[in-house]
Amino acid sequence: MKVDGKNIRPIFLDKDGKTIKIIDQRKLPHEFIITDLKTVDDAITAIKDMYVRGAPLIGVTSAYAVYLAAKNAPSELIELDYMVKECDRIKAARPTAVNLVWAVDRVLEKVRERSSLDSIVEITLKEAGIIAEEEAENCRKIGEHGLDLIGHISNEKKGQTVNVLTHCNAGWLACIEYGTATAPIYTAFDSGIDIHVWVDETRPLNQGARLTAWELGKHGIRHTVIADNTGGHLMQHGMVDIVIVGTDRTTHTGDVANKIGTYLKALAARDNHIPFYVALPSSTFDWKLKNGINEIPIEKRDPDEIMYVQGKYNDKTVEVLVPPIDSPAANYAFDVTPSRLVTGFITERGICGASEKEIRKLFPEK
Ligand code: MRU
Repeated sequence: MKVDGKNIRPIFLDKDGKTIKIIDQRKLPHEFIITDLKTVDDAITAIKDMYVRGAPLIGVTSAYAVYLAAKNAPSELIELDYMVKECDRIKAARPTAVNLVWAVDRVLEKVRERSSLDSIVEITLKEAGIIAEEEAENCRKIGEHGLDLIGHISNEKKGQTVNVLTHCNAGWLACIEYGTATAPIYTAFDSGIDIHVWVDETRPLNQGARLTAWELGKHGIRHTVIADNTGGHLMQHGMVDIVIVGTDRTTHTGDVANKIGTYLKALAARDNHIPFYVALPSSTFDWKLKNGINEIPIEKRDPDEIMYVQGKYNDKTVEVLVPPIDSPAANYAFDVTPSRLVTGFITERGICGASEKEIRKLFPEK
């Protein structure tokens, strides 16, 4: 996508074809910083400390982390055992986004299948690049399929503004290109549909206020940042036509783990008869787990993310303390929306209902 007229992705290879570069998302929107990932530990830190975040991007970063493991191996003769151990370290970086394990296993599989003459460094670099391109293309297709939904609402409203509500950042910053939840929004906007987005600020780290608002603004899309508790009120007053969110892991039975607060939006949407869609590439489906509420691991993060809020003051990015310093805080990063509250999934293969049967119809090979 474009930032100030220049094409950029949240992770990319430098001109030398070897160096991994990322947008450091921690300081956005007030500072735009590009940084290098030189080692596996750099990549693990970038995932853990959220320089990069969002399920598809975590997947691509972890794939490149496998390449960095190979590139920096202690000896030129890279042992499979060494690769497996490094992959285990990468997979432990964050627990909820299933793309992480999926991408690492996929690159590792290529290493296992290699013939003795193949270079592990080259194999891992190539596979990570393929995953990045596939995810970009998947998101483009999600945009095309989601356009049907938004176009339909626009027709029903006779061309009046379509109001979409989204939670967190499931934009191109989280997904290489287009985003998942934002892909239908970008596609609809680009095809001339009058669209406006309600952007949940998404406490505690404010991915909505900081990242989604920034992305949409750069693309010229009308949007309004709202406090996380506002959606229900807007829905009661006919100010939301559709909710579209992303997901970090969705079971093949249709339960959706996404940023904390998503479940409450789904409840409000159901109460107000508003369609609630989840946009995801197939890499975010968990084909093993059945019961999302009991089985999806929910990350608990540092309570300081609740205690302190980041913003701009006197041209500097600063953090300020909100509650009394000695009040305990609990930071659950995700929640699970049960399939019964989900109207449907927007995937690269099309749209389906939130049931195992419907999902498997789209992905029979799984
Ligand atoms: O904790 P984060 O920022 O990695 O959260 C993940 C997300 O970006 C969201 O939950 C998003 O809605 C789904 S990932 C495209």
